[in-house]
Amino acid sequence: MATSMNVMHVSEAGTPPRLASCPVRFCIERGGKDVVLSCRKSYVTNHIRTNFITRQEKLRSTVTRVRNHRSISNSLKNDLNLEYEATPRLAGKVAIITGAAQGIGKTTAKLFAKHGAKVIIADIQDDLGQSVCEEIGLETASYVHCDVTQEAHVENVVNFATTKYGKLDIMINNAAVLGEAKLSILENEKSDFDRVISVNLAGVFLGIKHAARAMIPAGCGSIISIGSVSSSIGGVSPHAYTSSKHAIVGLTKNVAAELGKHGIRVNCVSPYLVPPSVPAEISELHPHIFVNIYSNIKGVALKEEDVAQATLFFASDESKYISGHNLAVDGGFTTINPGFGLFAPTKSS
Ligand SMILES: NC(=O)c1ccc[n+]([C@@H]2O[C@H](COP(=O)([O-])OP(=O)(O)OC[C@H]3O[C@@H](n4cnc5c(N)ncnc54)[C@H](O)[C@@H]3O)[C@@H](O)[C@H]2O)c1
Repeated sequence: MATSMNVMHVSEAGTPPRLASCPVRFCIERGGKDVVLSCRKSYVTNHIRTNFITRQEKLRSTVTRVRNHRSISNSLKNDLNLEYEATPRLAGKVAIITGAAQGIGKTTAKLFAKHGAKVIIADIQDDLGQSVCEEIGLETASYVHCDVTQEAHVENVVNFATTKYGKLDIMINNAAVLGEAKLSILENEKSDFDRVISVNLAGVFLGIKHAARAMIPAGCGSIISIGSVSSSIGGVSPHAYTSSKHAIVGLTKNVAAELGKHGIRVNCVSPYLVPPSVPAEISELHPHIFVNIYSNIKGVALKEEDVAQATLFFASDESKYISGHNLAVDGGFTTINPGFGLFAPTKSS
């Protein structure tokens, strides 16, 4: 039993009319994993059924009691009639995440490990990648040097997964570079363009190809590539980056069309900007870049965890009927034009 325990979030299954048949559930973090605790129906009906408010209060007090215990004792378990129900969403799965030595990839690796996956971090920053594995735990995470522009490297990391674990369930093509922000196309060199395309598009192509090689015989798998708002609109990032991010959506759709017959799903997750990803000179010019007018959701700034959670959804069996999709994680940025709209702020508002 862990010596410390944090209540992470509280959720309730069901609504008041369904109270009697739905246990109250809450989630704690224990040993790096989320554990869902459920109060049995009898506890719910005996103690919390009068009305919704009472139930909320009772739930809060129940959670407080759990929080106040350094560990859950048997007597508390008996008292609350708690059931232990571990609910990792990727239990037993094996995932490769490219570009996971830092940033969104790292956060995704940590989240996947927390949900029971074995994770393989594929990156070119060896020290950082290794330290992420140590942070996660070496029994769960491995580092493999992999430059995604090199087919032999990508082939090697997939072989590592199949040799070590006997399979590959999830491939996350996350590694990417922004490229130099030369604002005039006249200043853009073909060699710079090629470099960005080679990491962001050819690297994704290689990731999909070699993941498919391992997944086709298994008849299942989930391949997710990390796009961007620049996968669907222009003017937000340099030309090469925008081109590469648009292209991986096309590649995703095409490969999804091919690989569905093998039970493999292929999707994209396309985030808005995560602070502080934008160079200082740009964020100084656009002080509200991370909130309000650029996101349709008031006061909310995108976090790496939000991207990782969307990726987790595609990686898990919860999305088993979704393929060929590009999921925008952008607060509505690519679907809403803040320049004009019926709901846009007016002079008087
Ligand atoms: N951060 C954002 O605001 C944002 C917004 C939209 C989309 N994205 C996308 O999310 C993904 C992750 O972005 P991030 O901001 O965390 O990036 P980051 O720059 O923090 O990390 C990228 C990682 O990729 C690795 N990498 C670079 N070239 C590589 C190569 N050739 N082979 C293997 N690894 C390589 C780097 O070493 C690094 O660890 C990218 O696909 C990016 O385009 C990010």
